Amino acid sequence: MNDLVLRATGVERVYKQGQHRVEVLRDLNLTVATREQVAIVGSSGCGKSTLLHVLAGLDTPDSGSVELDGVDLYRLNPAQRGRLRNEVLGFVYQFHHLLPEFSAVENVAMPLLIGRADAAQAKRDAAALLEKVGLGQRLTHKPAELSGGERQRAAIARALINRPRLVLADEPTGNLDETTAAGVYELMLQLNEELGTAFLIVTHDTRLAARMQKTYHLSNGGLHLQ
Ligand SMILES: Nc1ncnc2c1ncn2[C@@H]1O[C@H](COP(=O)(O)OP(=O)(O)O)[C@@H](O)[C@H]1O
Ligand SMILES: [Mg+2]
Repeated sequence: MNDLVLRATGVERVYKQGQHRVEVLRDLNLTVATREQVAIVGSSGCGKSTLLHVLAGLDTPDSGSVELDGVDLYRLNPAQRGRLRNEVLGFVYQFHHLLPEFSAVENVAMPLLIGRADAAQAKRDAAALLEKVGLGQRLTHKPAELSGGERQRAAIARALINRPRLVLADEPTGNLDETTAAGVYELMLQLNEELGTAFLIVTHDTRLAARMQKTYHLSNGGLHLQ
């Protein structure tokens, strides 16, 4: 196993709109090691989501490379890239994206079921993970029956169900009040410790970011260690 989960080298991403060129990422370099906790902070519009999409293999950079587990993502064909992404990465977004008509345990089990795992075992694994994120008493609740913080906890459990080596989180607490947000950070740090999952979180909340081992500031298209 590679000691680095992710290595981005010389990444450039330019949006062209007519005459306009917006250089969002410019010669950006980043490594994330196994078990590392990394936060990237920056103001709205500085390119945080663009960066996560490029790192996740969802948006091809104009130049530079992104390696996941030592494999150059953008040299793979789209099917191979999708497989590598599913093997190595989990995702958490600002909005939970849980499926409204399914219970918490079904939502968390979904990635396993899509991979055609045994349904009963998938639900047992999902229930165990929901227990770990403090939702052992909410297994059969639908998303609408959960609080905002509980939904994010369920979304985190879903991100972890395939045991990814790295979770990419885009403003995971952007929609929560301060106390609930702090609880969700505590949870991610606890899961990092217990499961050894690396976390890369982008946020505009510098106070929460400061809880992570490493914090970078994204500005002028590059990362600067805080
Ligand atoms: N698909 C796109 N086409 C053109 N410009 C885009 C596109 N996506 C994002 N941008 C621009 O790139 C910049 C960075 O956006 P984004 O990565 O969403 O920032 P953040 O997540 O930090 O708020 C913004 O100026 C935005 O307007
Ligand atoms: Mg964003």
